[in-house]
Amino acid sequence: MISIIGVGRVGTIAALMALIRGLDNKIVLIDIVPGLAQGEALDLGHAASALGIDAEIIGSEDFSLIKGSDIVLVTAGKPRKPGMTREQLLADNAAIVADIASKIRQYAPESIVLMTTNPLDAMVYVMYKKLGFPREKVIGFSGILDSARLAYYASKKLKMSPSAIQPIVIGMHGEAMFPVPRLSMVSGIPLTQLLSKTEIDDIVRETVQAGATITKLRGYSSNYAPGAGIVLMAEAIKKDAKKLFIASVYLKGEYGVEDVVAEIPVILGKNGVEKIIELPLNDEEKQGFLKSINAVRELIKALPEEYKT
Ligand code: 2OP
Repeated sequence: MISIIGVGRVGTIAALMALIRGLDNKIVLIDIVPGLAQGEALDLGHAASALGIDAEIIGSEDFSLIKGSDIVLVTAGKPRKPGMTREQLLADNAAIVADIASKIRQYAPESIVLMTTNPLDAMVYVMYKKLGFPREKVIGFSGILDSARLAYYASKKLKMSPSAIQPIVIGMHGEAMFPVPRLSMVSGIPLTQLLSKTEIDDIVRETVQAGATITKLRGYSSNYAPGAGIVLMAEAIKKDAKKLFIASVYLKGEYGVEDVVAEIPVILGKNGVEKIIELPLNDEEKQGFLKSINAVRELIKALPEEYKT
């Protein structure tokens, strides 16, 4: 059973994706806004009926319905508005995440929790601290998005499909993210050999600004890639696929850092994060990564104390 907490734009896309990919035959949607989850569940139930998909979709305000979930997707929280940074969302969303953590601990203590709430890394930190689950079971969606965007912009320059590129973006999910073009490859050939310095600078800038660009253009933040991506991570866990993703996890000494959350390559399987991959960063890249991590640390520092233990 899969539960989705927060059925705004990301949560509903996640629900539709989960349905279409046959992730589970029971999907529970929870939202505190009266009627919202029930309405979405009904619409999705009609979609399932039209598509000939056998799945039960339940919507409610009652968190106790997440009982029995093996995976809980947390897509709740205030979204970014135009001109707003992810960081400004910090205090409001920390309170929401801490409250959801207490409900998950109560009703789904065996579950694996995947999150999209921004500012992502700081919210994964709050969830990890408040849940008390092993770190392998508290995972942030982010890296698929940032790395998919790097591949997208590189693919335009290279006139290749994004799937021909293995992109690497690590560190913070935010303006301080750290794309690593030298380790982003096309069949083992680094982007730094395939594109000029100016082209690399362009794709890095476009990748970093992608979220803000979408928000500015259409007035609200991204939802298709986050909703779809979090389901791909859930699927890898459900199927014990042991697939590689870039995801936000709590670090305990990897990359020489600890007590912080950052996006890094991991292997996802039935136990959640089954392996953390340490990339062979050169000295300059290590500095870039640490700078990015420091931006996450600043956010964690700014969190009210009650959310850090
Ligand atoms: C993005 O990068 C909103 O964090 C989300 O699009």
